[in-house]
Amino acid sequence: MSLFKKNTTMGDRGETVDDRLKHIAFIMDGNGRWARRRGMPREFGHSHGAATFKKIGRYCEKIGIRYMTVYAFSTENWKRPQKEVDEIMRIFYEYIEDCMIEMKTDNAHFRFIGNLSIFSPELRAKMEKADRETVDKPFTLNIAVNYGGREEIANACNRLIAEGKTQITEENINSHLYTTPCPDPDLIVRTGGEYRTSNFLLWQSAYSEFYFSKTLWPDYSAKDVDEAVAAFYERKRRYGGVV
Ligand code: IPE
Ligand code: IPE
Ligand code: MG
Repeated sequence: MSLFKKNTTMGDRGETVDDRLKHIAFIMDGNGRWARRRGMPREFGHSHGAATFKKIGRYCEKIGIRYMTVYAFSTENWKRPQKEVDEIMRIFYEYIEDCMIEMKTDNAHFRFIGNLSIFSPELRAKMEKADRETVDKPFTLNIAVNYGGREEIANACNRLIAEGKTQITEENINSHLYTTPCPDPDLIVRTGGEYRTSNFLLWQSAYSEFYFSKTLWPDYSAKDVDEAVAAFYERKRRYGGVV
């Protein structure tokens, strides 16, 4: 392989993933530390993180991934200082406004997942509009906000009870998740060097492959995606069987 080729990304080379990697998910962690290392307030990291999210989304679509789910704000993140929460929400509202413009030309089907009942009816209407009007786009982007894996499972159970179920099957839960009808993630990447799920996709990750990167999210690049994808292709997925 020439030196030139070695320094390019999968995307530059026109390479795409195959059906083994349909769905990638990211726990976008490390924004606060990235900012603090620069002597800046944590909020500074969140705006850079938002830009990275857009860049990585476009790259994943370019390399042929069909579904991408990102963890933007957890049900536990409300514990943070009010100033930080307010700034994250401001960035999120700005993102939705951008979606309203970019959805016309973007290839993404925007979906907002989590307990959205805390948002104003106006904001929810915008999320629903973005979702509805992009439903035929080829790249599904799930943005998890006020999302918790436990809350999602409890919510699914409550919906089933409301439907009159007295016995619940795995299939029933599968069909009432916020991510439904997307397939389970094949690969979950966590940036920022922590080795935990922090309540992300608990049900869906039963047989996902995990990849942990030390890179702080605002620094995450196409090359880092390539590294995670390459590691994924080294794995043997057995699903409890024998391969
Ligand atoms: C992830 O980055 C973004 C959110 C949780 C909203 P953090 O803000 O958790 O950054 P660190 O982990 O403190 O560096
Ligand atoms: C997980 O990161 C949530 C998001 C990336 C949105 P956290 O920074 O909240 O997780 P912990 O607190 O380190 O487990
Ligand atoms: Mg964190």
